This record gives sequence, structure tokens and C-alpha cells, in this order.
Amino acid sequence: MSREPTSRVEIEVNGQIVAHDVPNRTLLVDFLRDVLDLTGTHTGCDTSQCGACTVHLDGIAIKSCTIFAVQAHDKVVTTIEGLDPDGRHPLQTCFQECHALQCGFCTPGMIMAAASLLNVVPEPDAEDVREALEGNLCRCTGYQPIVEAVLRASKELAQ
Ligand code: FES
Ligand code: FES
Repeated sequence: MSREPTSRVEIEVNGQIVAHDVPNRTLLVDFLRDVLDLTGTHTGCDTSQCGACTVHLDGIAIKSCTIFAVQAHDKVVTTIEGLDPDGRHPLQTCFQECHALQCGFCTPGMIMAAASLLNVVPEPDAEDVREALEGNLCRCTGYQPIVEAVLRASKELAQ
């Protein structure tokens, strides 16, 4: 019986270095959820379509079902749990205030994608937001409150 090869990974996750031996084919989303118990990152399609698994890798939004945990070795990963080390990020507050939480399942991924946008484009317009979120699917009520929430958060962050 052949055993799946494993590798040692060291990753900075939400400000802390974690080190684990993981099977080489472990997806980053599964590592975050099953090994580190960071279940705020969700698994939706598992095929890079929905965006529910979005996290930041070295500050850039990526779909964590599209890379292996070993590919995050020596890199910095931020999940929804670590987005604002001081508490609640303005995006989280604005999603609540604008009724953009909607189903809640896709929300962490939406917020992580939006946060990545605001890191690069602090004052986006609605078109910028829609473009940044085009990889994050909403199948329930639509994108309008989500776009409004991101725009409101950008204004609050700019103050
Ligand atoms: Fe990763 Fe859907 S679970 S894109
Ligand atoms: Fe999650 Fe619409 S807000 S599917």
C-alpha cells in the first residue's frame, strides 16, 4: 500500500506561524478548515468557480481551493478571522448595515475579495467593485447590497 507523500509547511496564518506535515495534495482550503479549524473560509464549488473559499495570500485575494497547502509554504495567509486583528473590519460592519450578508455562506469570500480590492484601489466606483467581485458568485438575492456595502466601507476607511 503506498502512502501519499507529505511535506512540512510553515505558513504565517493570521499573524501566527503554523507548522504542519501535510499530504502534498491537501488543498489550502482544507488545511485552513480541517487542520487549523478556521472554518470561516467556506468550501462551495471546490472547482474555482464560486469564490466562497477566498483568502489572501501575501495580501492578494486567491481562491484557496485552487492551490495546495504546500504552495503557501513560507507565505502569509489571511482569512476572514484575521482580516482585522483589532476586531471588526469596516467591511464586516458595512455588510451588516447594508443588509449585504444575505445567505452568509458566500460572505467571507466576498469580504476577502473586497478587502483585497480596497488595498489596491482605496476609492473604487461601483464598476471597480463589480469587477473585483466577479469571481465571487451570489445565487440568492443579487449583488446590489454587496456593492453598496463595499462602497460604504471604502468611504469609512478613507476618513
Ligand atoms: Fe473555491 Fe468555490 S470553493 S471557488
Ligand atoms: Fe450568498 Fe447570495 S449572498 S449566495
